[in-house]
Amino acid sequence: MNVEQFFDQVLTVRLTPDRQALDIIDQTLLPGTIRRIRLETKEEIWEAIKKLRVRGAPAIGVSAAYGMAVVSSRFEAQDFESFYREFTALKEYFASSRPTAVNLFWALNRMDDCARAAAGEGRSLDEIRELLYKEADAIREEDVLISRNIGEIGFGLLKELKKEGKPVGILTHCNAGTLATAKYGTATAPMYIALEHGWSGSDMHVYCDETRPLLQGARLTSFELNSAGITTTVQCDNMSSLLMKSGKIDIIFVGCDRVAANGDAANKIGTSGVAILAKHYGIPFYVCAPSSTIDRKTPTGEQIPIEMRDPDEVTEMWYRERMAPQGIDVFNPAFDVTDHSLITGMITEKGLCRNPYDKDFDKYGI
Ligand code: MRU
Repeated sequence: MNVEQFFDQVLTVRLTPDRQALDIIDQTLLPGTIRRIRLETKEEIWEAIKKLRVRGAPAIGVSAAYGMAVVSSRFEAQDFESFYREFTALKEYFASSRPTAVNLFWALNRMDDCARAAAGEGRSLDEIRELLYKEADAIREEDVLISRNIGEIGFGLLKELKKEGKPVGILTHCNAGTLATAKYGTATAPMYIALEHGWSGSDMHVYCDETRPLLQGARLTSFELNSAGITTTVQCDNMSSLLMKSGKIDIIFVGCDRVAANGDAANKIGTSGVAILAKHYGIPFYVCAPSSTIDRKTPTGEQIPIEMRDPDEVTEMWYRERMAPQGIDVFNPAFDVTDHSLITGMITEKGLCRNPYDKDFDKYGI
């Protein structure tokens, strides 16, 4: 299987040919079962986001955008006012699915702007429905280009680390891969772009943190990188310190769900620990951040809402039997915030940003 065939096989989200539903790969079943499912109703779309059937900040944004187009195409409203009333309620409904990834709200606002602008131009409801499909397509297509640019910049960093006869050791946490985006992923984009530039899968060795409690690293990242022919190892989260100490890791790439104006970056729980270790061992730690994930309205990481999830994910899921006492109190935040001072650089599609981040965000018009 070449890399393009691989991308086709794991395509995260697309519109069905009849444009009446979303067609997603159900990520809760991976890696054992590759099954595509059809999401037709607003409830099905909401549930798929909430339950992480589709997940990863950019993929959530693309799914919500398609969800707005598909569901609003069925509104029976006869005038824009009533259409927009239903549209706003739908937007709020999707916005309630997950609180941390800002791409969700960014994509919903883009769809909202599109509807209002079209109405302002005096377009008919049929035309507005068509424009909403186009806007969702644009969000997906832009995501491919954005990840590609991030990949090119990240690949530049990999090239600097390449030594004859030795793979570049890369560590990543969670899944910021093709399964989390429209094509290349963000943290994985440098690796896929390396393949496009003629590197072999053994020119890199990617160490995937398993990523407790939902195992996005073990189930998803190792699955996709291994399928793409890249040398891949999985380790439990508490093993990455030893890996870093042993000199096997040359560079770390992670994704993000929301970056505050000062560069503090929310990503999957455990990321900030990786960054602290990286600082200790002197390993460069890069956050791969599409500009749609940078939220300059949120001043610092303190203000980023952190999703708290079901205790069963910690105590029961994945185990043959429950592994903590019934009724025990459980702490299960889905994300943590890495302080900007721990981040070597932030790779956006517009350029590589460094601390002080607000200056570089200004420089690139983010
Ligand atoms: O809870 P998840 O699986 O949606 O969390 C995903 C992450 O934390 C990713 O690293 C992030 O969304 C970036 S995806 C390009």
